[in-house]
Amino acid sequence: MSAGFPVARSRRLRETPAMRDLVAETSVRPAELILPLFVKEGAAEPQPVPSMPGVVQHTRDSVRKAAEEAVDAGVGGLMVFGVPQHKDERGSGADDPEGIVQRVLRDLATDLGPSGVRPTVLMADLCLDEYTSHGHCGLLTDTGAVDNDATLERYRSIAVAQARAGVDVVAPSGMMDGQVAAIRAALDEVGRQDVAILSYAVKYASAFYGPFRDAAEAEPSFGDRASHQMDPRNTVEAVREVRQDLAEGADMVMVKPGLAYLDVVARVADTVDVPVSAYQVSGEYAMVEAAAANGWLDRDRVILETLTAYRRAGARQILTYWAVDGARLVR
Ligand code: PBG
Repeated sequence: MSAGFPVARSRRLRETPAMRDLVAETSVRPAELILPLFVKEGAAEPQPVPSMPGVVQHTRDSVRKAAEEAVDAGVGGLMVFGVPQHKDERGSGADDPEGIVQRVLRDLATDLGPSGVRPTVLMADLCLDEYTSHGHCGLLTDTGAVDNDATLERYRSIAVAQARAGVDVVAPSGMMDGQVAAIRAALDEVGRQDVAILSYAVKYASAFYGPFRDAAEAEPSFGDRASHQMDPRNTVEAVREVRQDLAEGADMVMVKPGLAYLDVVARVADTVDVPVSAYQVSGEYAMVEAAAANGWLDRDRVILETLTAYRRAGARQILTYWAVDGARLVR
Protein backbone atom coordinates (compact mmCIF):
# COMPACT_ATOMS: atom_id res chain seq x y z
CA MET A 1 0.00 0.00 0.00
CA SER A 2 1.48 3.39 -1.00
CA ALA A 3 2.12 6.02 1.67
CA GLY A 4 -0.71 8.37 0.76
CA PHE A 5 -3.40 5.71 0.29
CA PRO A 6 -6.23 6.51 -0.09
CA VAL A 7 -5.62 9.77 -1.95
CA ALA A 8 -9.22 10.81 -1.99
CA ARG A 9 -10.35 11.31 1.60
CA SER A 10 -13.90 12.67 1.89
CA ARG A 11 -13.47 12.92 5.64
CA ARG A 12 -11.15 15.94 5.27
CA LEU A 13 -14.20 18.12 4.64
CA ARG A 14 -16.10 16.63 7.59
CA GLU A 15 -13.50 17.08 10.30
CA THR A 16 -14.61 20.30 12.02
CA PRO A 17 -17.90 22.13 12.47
CA ALA A 18 -16.46 25.14 10.62
CA MET A 19 -15.44 23.00 7.67
CA ARG A 20 -18.82 21.29 7.58
CA ASP A 21 -20.58 24.66 7.59
CA LEU A 22 -18.31 25.91 4.85
CA VAL A 23 -19.25 23.10 2.47
CA ALA A 24 -22.89 22.57 3.46
CA GLU A 25 -25.17 22.57 0.40
CA THR A 26 -28.50 23.08 2.14
CA SER A 27 -29.75 25.60 4.64
CA VAL A 28 -33.08 26.33 6.30
CA ARG A 29 -34.04 29.97 6.72
CA PRO A 30 -36.79 31.03 9.15
CA ALA A 31 -38.29 33.18 6.38
CA GLU A 32 -39.03 30.01 4.39
CA LEU A 33 -41.11 28.46 7.17
CA ILE A 34 -44.90 28.83 7.29
CA LEU A 35 -46.82 28.22 10.51
CA PRO A 36 -50.35 26.79 10.29
CA LEU A 37 -52.66 28.26 12.96
CA PHE A 38 -56.06 26.89 13.98
CA VAL A 39 -58.63 29.26 15.42
CA LYS A 40 -61.82 28.04 17.06
CA GLU A 41 -64.81 30.32 16.92
CA GLY A 42 -66.30 31.06 20.32
CA ALA A 43 -63.49 29.39 22.31
CA ALA A 44 -62.79 31.07 25.65
CA GLU A 45 -59.49 29.25 26.19
CA PRO A 46 -57.02 27.68 23.76
CA GLN A 47 -57.98 24.01 23.29
CA PRO A 48 -55.13 21.50 23.14
CA VAL A 49 -55.26 19.09 20.20
CA PRO A 50 -54.67 15.67 21.82
CA SER A 51 -53.11 14.05 18.76
CA MET A 52 -50.76 17.02 18.23
CA PRO A 53 -49.04 17.79 21.55
CA GLY A 54 -48.04 21.45 21.61
CA VAL A 55 -50.63 22.49 19.00
CA VAL A 56 -53.83 24.22 20.09
CA GLN A 57 -57.03 25.51 18.61
CA HIS A 58 -56.55 29.19 19.34
CA THR A 59 -58.98 31.77 20.57
CA ARG A 60 -59.20 35.07 18.74
CA ASP A 61 -56.88 36.54 21.36
CA SER A 62 -54.38 33.73 21.67
CA VAL A 63 -53.85 33.55 17.91
CA ARG A 64 -52.68 37.15 17.94
CA LYS A 65 -50.05 36.28 20.55
CA ALA A 66 -49.00 33.18 18.63
CA ALA A 67 -48.64 35.24 15.46
CA GLU A 68 -46.51 37.79 17.27
CA GLU A 69 -44.28 35.06 18.68
CA ALA A 70 -43.86 33.56 15.20
CA VAL A 71 -43.00 36.92 13.68
CA ASP A 72 -40.46 37.53 16.44
CA ALA A 73 -38.87 34.18 15.64
CA GLY A 74 -38.61 35.24 11.98
CA VAL A 75 -41.23 32.87 10.55
CA GLY A 76 -42.00 33.84 6.96
CA GLY A 77 -45.69 33.06 6.72
CA LEU A 78 -48.82 32.27 8.72
CA MET A 79 -51.52 29.94 7.35
CA VAL A 80 -54.86 30.44 9.10
CA PHE A 81 -57.44 27.64 9.44
CA GLY A 82 -60.85 28.33 10.94
CA VAL A 83 -62.99 26.03 13.05
CA PRO A 84 -66.50 27.51 12.98
CA GLN A 85 -69.11 27.17 15.71
CA HIS A 86 -71.88 26.29 13.28
CA LYS A 87 -71.59 24.07 10.26
CA ASP A 88 -74.09 23.60 7.45
CA GLU A 89 -74.40 21.87 4.08
CA ARG A 90 -72.95 24.85 2.18
CA GLY A 91 -70.21 25.73 4.64
CA SER A 92 -71.66 29.23 5.06
CA GLY A 93 -69.08 30.26 7.65
CA ALA A 94 -66.28 30.05 5.10
CA ASP A 95 -67.21 33.20 3.16
CA ASP A 96 -69.20 35.06 5.81
CA PRO A 97 -67.47 38.44 6.35
CA GLU A 98 -68.04 37.83 10.07
CA GLY A 99 -66.85 34.21 9.85
CA ILE A 100 -63.99 33.17 12.09
CA VAL A 101 -61.22 33.28 9.49
CA GLN A 102 -62.26 36.68 8.18
CA ARG A 103 -62.30 38.11 11.71
CA VAL A 104 -58.90 36.65 12.49
CA LEU A 105 -57.43 37.87 9.20
CA ARG A 106 -58.65 41.39 9.99
CA ASP A 107 -57.13 41.18 13.48
CA LEU A 108 -53.80 39.93 12.21
CA ALA A 109 -53.74 42.38 9.30
CA THR A 110 -54.22 45.18 11.84
CA ASP A 111 -51.54 43.83 14.20
CA LEU A 112 -49.01 43.11 11.47
CA GLY A 113 -49.60 46.24 9.42
CA PRO A 114 -50.79 46.60 5.85
CA SER A 115 -49.47 44.35 3.13
CA GLY A 116 -46.07 45.68 2.10
CA VAL A 117 -45.24 46.66 5.67
CA ARG A 118 -46.01 43.26 7.16
CA PRO A 119 -43.04 41.39 8.59
CA THR A 120 -44.63 38.10 7.53
CA VAL A 121 -47.00 36.86 4.83
CA LEU A 122 -50.62 36.36 5.81
CA MET A 123 -52.17 33.26 4.24
CA ALA A 124 -55.44 31.40 4.56
CA ASP A 125 -56.44 27.86 3.71
CA LEU A 126 -59.28 28.01 1.22
CA CYS A 127 -61.54 25.00 1.54
CA LEU A 128 -64.94 23.97 2.85
CA ASP A 129 -64.26 20.87 4.93
CA GLU A 130 -64.02 22.71 8.26
CA TYR A 131 -67.30 24.48 7.51
CA THR A 132 -69.57 21.81 6.11
CA SER A 133 -71.81 19.67 8.30
CA HIS A 134 -70.74 16.58 6.29
CA GLY A 135 -67.02 17.43 6.47
CA HIS A 136 -66.42 17.25 2.72
CA CYS A 137 -64.35 19.82 0.84
CA GLY A 138 -67.24 20.85 -1.39
CA LEU A 139 -70.97 20.87 -1.99
CA LEU A 140 -72.60 17.48 -2.40
CA THR A 141 -74.93 16.18 -5.09
CA ASP A 142 -78.13 14.33 -4.14
CA THR A 143 -76.21 11.08 -4.22
CA GLY A 144 -73.50 12.37 -1.87
CA ALA A 145 -70.73 12.94 -4.43
CA VAL A 146 -68.64 16.12 -4.31
CA ASP A 147 -70.03 18.47 -6.96
CA ASN A 148 -66.95 19.98 -8.59
CA ASP A 149 -68.39 22.92 -10.48
CA ALA A 150 -70.91 24.00 -7.86
CA THR A 151 -68.07 23.94 -5.33
CA LEU A 152 -66.02 26.32 -7.49
CA GLU A 153 -68.69 28.99 -7.00
CA ARG A 154 -68.24 28.64 -3.24
CA TYR A 155 -64.45 28.85 -3.55
CA ARG A 156 -64.76 32.06 -5.59
CA SER A 157 -66.78 33.63 -2.85
CA ILE A 158 -64.40 32.49 -0.09
CA ALA A 159 -61.43 33.93 -1.98
CA VAL A 160 -63.10 37.34 -2.21
CA ALA A 161 -64.07 37.27 1.47
CA GLN A 162 -60.52 36.39 2.52
CA ALA A 163 -59.09 39.08 0.23
CA ARG A 164 -61.39 41.71 1.72
CA ALA A 165 -60.31 40.61 5.20
CA GLY A 166 -56.67 41.31 4.38
CA VAL A 167 -55.09 38.05 3.25
CA ASP A 168 -51.91 38.23 1.14
CA VAL A 169 -52.09 34.67 -0.20
CA VAL A 170 -55.04 32.31 -0.58
CA ALA A 171 -54.27 28.60 -0.53
CA PRO A 172 -56.94 26.43 -2.14
CA SER A 173 -56.68 22.90 -0.71
CA GLY A 174 -59.83 21.18 -1.96
CA MET A 175 -58.39 19.54 -5.12
CA MET A 176 -61.37 20.54 -7.28
CA ASP A 177 -60.63 20.73 -11.02
CA GLY A 178 -60.39 24.34 -12.18
CA GLN A 179 -60.19 25.79 -8.67
CA VAL A 180 -57.20 28.01 -9.36
CA ALA A 181 -58.75 29.52 -12.52
CA ALA A 182 -62.04 30.11 -10.72
CA ILE A 183 -60.36 31.83 -7.77
CA ARG A 184 -58.01 33.90 -9.93
CA ALA A 185 -60.97 35.16 -11.99
CA ALA A 186 -63.00 35.97 -8.88
CA LEU A 187 -60.15 37.94 -7.33
CA ASP A 188 -59.39 39.80 -10.55
CA GLU A 189 -63.05 40.66 -11.07
CA VAL A 190 -63.09 42.53 -7.76
CA GLY A 191 -59.79 44.26 -8.49
CA ARG A 192 -57.64 42.08 -6.24
CA GLN A 193 -54.85 41.25 -8.66
CA ASP A 194 -52.53 41.76 -5.69
CA VAL A 195 -53.65 38.62 -3.84
CA ALA A 196 -51.43 35.63 -4.69
CA ILE A 197 -52.45 31.97 -4.98
CA LEU A 198 -50.48 29.18 -3.34
CA SER A 199 -52.13 26.14 -4.80
CA TYR A 200 -52.18 22.80 -3.01
CA ALA A 201 -51.60 21.43 -6.51
CA VAL A 202 -50.37 17.99 -5.50
CA LYS A 203 -52.33 16.72 -2.57
CA TYR A 204 -52.46 13.02 -1.93
CA ALA A 205 -55.29 11.09 -0.28
CA SER A 206 -53.16 10.44 2.78
CA ALA A 207 -53.55 8.79 6.17
CA PHE A 208 -51.02 11.32 7.46
CA TYR A 209 -53.81 13.93 7.76
CA GLY A 210 -55.41 12.06 10.67
CA PRO A 211 -54.43 14.41 13.52
CA PHE A 212 -55.30 17.50 11.44
CA ARG A 213 -58.86 16.31 11.20
CA ASP A 214 -59.00 16.47 15.01
CA ALA A 215 -57.44 19.92 15.00
CA ALA A 216 -59.72 21.29 12.30
CA GLU A 217 -62.73 19.13 13.22
CA ALA A 218 -62.96 18.20 9.57
CA GLU A 219 -63.32 14.41 9.37
CA PRO A 220 -65.83 13.49 6.63
CA SER A 221 -68.99 12.06 8.22
CA PHE A 222 -69.08 9.41 5.46
CA GLY A 223 -66.81 8.32 2.63
CA ASP A 224 -63.33 9.70 1.98
CA ARG A 225 -61.51 12.14 -0.29
CA ALA A 226 -60.18 9.61 -2.79
CA SER A 227 -62.39 10.94 -5.60
CA HIS A 228 -60.46 14.22 -5.65
CA GLN A 229 -57.19 13.84 -3.75
CA MET A 230 -54.36 12.04 -5.54
CA ASP A 231 -53.58 8.34 -5.43
CA PRO A 232 -50.30 7.77 -3.50
CA ARG A 233 -49.16 5.40 -6.25
CA ASN A 234 -48.84 8.19 -8.82
CA THR A 235 -46.27 10.83 -9.75
CA VAL A 236 -46.90 11.51 -13.44
CA GLU A 237 -50.21 12.94 -12.35
CA ALA A 238 -48.41 15.31 -9.98
CA VAL A 239 -46.60 16.94 -12.87
CA ARG A 240 -49.88 17.30 -14.73
CA GLU A 241 -51.62 18.86 -11.73
CA VAL A 242 -48.83 21.37 -11.30
CA ARG A 243 -48.75 22.35 -14.98
CA GLN A 244 -52.50 22.79 -14.96
CA ASP A 245 -52.49 24.99 -11.87
CA LEU A 246 -49.72 27.15 -13.29
CA ALA A 247 -51.66 27.56 -16.53
CA GLU A 248 -54.65 28.62 -14.43
CA GLY A 249 -52.63 31.30 -12.66
CA ALA A 250 -51.11 29.77 -9.52
CA ASP A 251 -48.16 31.78 -8.22
CA MET A 252 -46.75 28.99 -6.07
CA VAL A 253 -47.49 25.29 -5.85
CA MET A 254 -47.45 22.89 -2.95
CA VAL A 255 -46.83 19.18 -2.54
CA LYS A 256 -48.52 17.51 0.41
CA PRO A 257 -47.75 15.53 2.51
CA GLY A 258 -44.01 16.07 2.41
CA LEU A 259 -41.85 13.48 4.09
CA ALA A 260 -43.31 10.41 2.43
CA TYR A 261 -43.44 12.28 -0.91
CA LEU A 262 -40.02 13.94 -1.15
CA ASP A 263 -39.49 12.17 -4.48
CA VAL A 264 -42.52 14.07 -5.76
CA VAL A 265 -41.21 17.33 -4.30
CA ALA A 266 -37.92 16.78 -6.12
CA ARG A 267 -39.59 15.96 -9.39
CA VAL A 268 -41.93 18.94 -9.26
CA ALA A 269 -39.11 21.28 -8.21
CA ASP A 270 -37.07 20.12 -11.21
CA THR A 271 -39.99 20.60 -13.56
CA VAL A 272 -41.38 24.05 -12.83
CA ASP A 273 -40.12 27.61 -12.52
CA VAL A 274 -42.13 28.79 -9.52
CA PRO A 275 -41.46 28.31 -5.81
CA VAL A 276 -42.45 24.82 -4.69
CA SER A 277 -43.72 24.48 -1.13
CA ALA A 278 -44.23 21.31 0.85
CA TYR A 279 -46.46 20.64 3.83
CA GLN A 280 -45.02 18.76 6.79
CA VAL A 281 -48.42 17.47 7.80
CA SER A 282 -50.03 16.65 11.11
CA GLY A 283 -49.22 12.93 11.01
CA GLU A 284 -45.51 13.62 10.58
CA TYR A 285 -45.62 15.99 13.52
CA ALA A 286 -47.56 13.52 15.68
CA MET A 287 -45.17 10.63 14.96
CA VAL A 288 -42.10 12.57 16.01
CA GLU A 289 -43.71 14.20 19.04
CA ALA A 290 -44.97 10.82 20.27
CA ALA A 291 -41.60 9.15 19.85
CA ALA A 292 -39.79 12.09 21.46
CA ALA A 293 -42.19 12.06 24.42
CA ASN A 294 -41.18 8.45 24.98
CA GLY A 295 -37.52 9.35 24.82
CA TRP A 296 -37.11 7.34 21.62
CA LEU A 297 -35.98 10.21 19.38
CA ASP A 298 -34.04 13.42 19.90
CA ARG A 299 -36.82 15.86 19.03
CA ASP A 300 -34.77 18.90 18.06
CA ARG A 301 -32.36 16.95 15.92
CA VAL A 302 -35.19 15.19 14.13
CA ILE A 303 -36.98 18.49 13.48
CA LEU A 304 -33.84 19.97 11.98
CA GLU A 305 -33.08 16.85 9.97
CA THR A 306 -36.57 16.67 8.46
CA LEU A 307 -36.66 20.38 7.60
CA THR A 308 -33.26 19.96 5.95
CA ALA A 309 -34.55 16.96 4.01
CA TYR A 310 -37.42 19.03 2.62
CA ARG A 311 -35.05 21.77 1.51
CA ARG A 312 -32.59 19.26 0.06
CA ALA A 313 -35.39 17.69 -1.99
CA GLY A 314 -36.12 21.10 -3.48
CA ALA A 315 -38.91 22.56 -1.35
CA ARG A 316 -38.48 26.30 -1.07
CA GLN A 317 -41.11 26.89 1.61
CA ILE A 318 -42.09 24.43 4.32
CA LEU A 319 -45.42 24.51 6.08
CA THR A 320 -44.76 23.05 9.49
CA TYR A 321 -46.25 23.02 12.97
CA TRP A 322 -42.62 23.34 14.10
CA ALA A 323 -42.11 26.65 12.29
CA VAL A 324 -41.30 28.54 15.49
CA ASP A 325 -39.10 25.76 16.92
CA GLY A 326 -37.47 25.35 13.52
CA ALA A 327 -36.78 29.07 13.18
CA ARG A 328 -35.15 29.09 16.62
CA LEU A 329 -33.13 25.96 15.89
CA VAL A 330 -31.58 27.38 12.73
CA ARG A 331 -30.86 30.84 14.08
C1 PBG B 1 -58.19 20.61 3.89
C2 PBG B 1 -56.84 20.41 4.49
C3 PBG B 1 -56.33 19.25 5.10
C4 PBG B 1 -55.04 19.56 5.54
C5 PBG B 1 -54.78 20.88 5.17
N1 PBG B 1 -55.91 21.38 4.50
C6 PBG B 1 -56.99 17.97 5.42
C7 PBG B 1 -57.56 17.09 4.41
O1 PBG B 1 -57.42 17.26 3.21
O2 PBG B 1 -58.20 16.14 4.85
C8 PBG B 1 -54.12 18.61 6.26
C9 PBG B 1 -53.01 19.23 7.02
C10 PBG B 1 -52.34 18.32 7.98
O3 PBG B 1 -52.58 17.10 8.05
O4 PBG B 1 -51.50 18.84 8.73
N2 PBG B 1 -58.76 21.84 4.27
